[in-house]
This record gives sequence, structure tokens and C-alpha cells, in this order.
Amino acid sequence: MPYFLRELSRVDLARLTKWRNERDLVNQLNTAFRYVGQETDLDWFNEYVANRFNNIRLAICETESEKFIGVVYLLEIDWINRNAEHAIWIGDKSFQGRGAGEFATRSVLHHAFTDLNLHRIHLTVLATNERALKLYRKVGFVEEGRLRQAVYKEGHYVDLIRMGMLEEEYVRPALKTGDIVYRGPVPPEQPKPKARRFMSSSARTV
Ligand SMILES: CC(C)(COP(=O)(O)OP(=O)(O)OC[C@H]1O[C@@H](n2cnc3c(N)ncnc32)[C@H](O)[C@@H]1OP(=O)(O)O)[C@@H](O)C(=O)NCCC(=O)NCCS
Repeated sequence: MPYFLRELSRVDLARLTKWRNERDLVNQLNTAFRYVGQETDLDWFNEYVANRFNNIRLAICETESEKFIGVVYLLEIDWINRNAEHAIWIGDKSFQGRGAGEFATRSVLHHAFTDLNLHRIHLTVLATNERALKLYRKVGFVEEGRLRQAVYKEGHYVDLIRMGMLEEEYVRPALKTGDIVYRGPVPPEQPKPKARRFMSSSARTV
């Protein structure tokens, strides 16, 4: 594997702070650009450590060099409804478009559904972020809605797309490809309704 994931660490903060101050990178995220200093990020990291039961913050690294190139998160894990929010960014631009985003997204979904017993992963993405939309559709996220003019970016309002993936939508294809060897019961596939040319009079209710 050319990449691996590990938990984010204090030693990553300097690079992370640098990425957070890169306007072109932040402009692709559903978050406002703010100037961020090292103390702010240290507080942010300490808060994560204190709340890590409900949040997973992982570093994406290149295997050969062990270089830290991006982050992938599962946030605000809801242990009752068994869902969490997915977020990702490849901060090192020289690694964008080289498979790291797909690897990290698939890996974190695997973690969510097969280690943490989550049922649903959701995310939001700017309607203008074609690259991320393509990645999410490729790995199987389904569009669930559009929040019109929900985010203010560079002087304009931009639509926000909501996407989600259910446990069964990850598990069924993964069982077929062998990415998952065994898993507990998967809900049965819903039979497709038979196409009916005419409605019989007995089936009519009004
Ligand atoms: C969006 C992002 C996570 C994608 O990760 P990546 O490592 O660059 O993408 P990958 O190389 O893994 O490519 C996976 C898929 O993404 C899509 N993709 C990647 N680069 C693309 C590009 N330049 N244009 C269009 N689609 C692209 C493709 O569907 C690609 O699959 P394919 O190569 O089979 O066509 C990454 O580019 C990134 O962090 N961008 C900046 C921050 C961001 O937008 N985060 C997401 C916020 S919701």
C-alpha cells in the first residue's frame, strides 16, 4: 500500500497550521478561511484529545517516506444513532490526484463499518468542488440533498451538497470484492417491484 493512516499527533501540528493558512485549500472546504496560529491549533488539538471518544482524527501518510500529507476524520460520532461525519483534505498539494484521497476515504469507511459498528456516514461538500464530488460518488456516497446558498466563499454564496452512505451500501459490495471476508447479518436486499403494465381493479383503492 502506498499510503497508511495513523492517529493525528502533536508533531503534525506545524504542517497542519501551514495548510490551514492556505486560502486555495480552505476555499474547497465547508469552513470559512481564518488566519490560524500555532497556539490556536494546539488548543484545538488538546480539545480533540479530550474528546477523542466521539471524534477520530487521522493523519494520511505516504508509506515509503512516512510523510504526513493530509487528514481524514470521523467527527461527532453518535453512538445511539450510530452515525458520524466524514471529512478529508490532502494538504500537501503535490500528493493530490495520486490516490491518497480514495485510499483514505475507503479505509476510514472500512474502520467505521467494520471496527466501530457505525450504521451511516454522512458528509457535506461544496457544489463547486467537482473533484471531491467525483471521489465521493466513486466510493459509493449517495446524494441526499442540496442546501441552496448555504456557504459564503470568496464573496459568493455557494450551494452545499449533503451525501451519505449506509452500512449495507458499503458492506454488500465489499463482501463481493473480498475487502470484507466475514461480517454479521447483512439486511436482505429488497426485491425489485415487478413492472406491471396495468393496475388490476382489486389493487385500486380510490
Ligand atoms: C478532494 C480530495 C480529497 C481527493 O483526493 P485525491 O487524493 O486528490 O484524489 P484521488 O487521487 O484519490 O482520486 C480519487 C478520485 O477522485 C476524483 N478526482 C481526483 N482528482 C480529480 C481531478 N483533478 N478532477 C476530477 N476528479 C478528480 C476522481 O474520481 C478520482 O478517481 P479516478 O482517478 O479513478 O478518476 C483532495 O484532492 C483534496 O483534499 N482536495 C482539497 C480539499 C478538499 O476538497 N477536500 C474535500 C472537501 S469535501
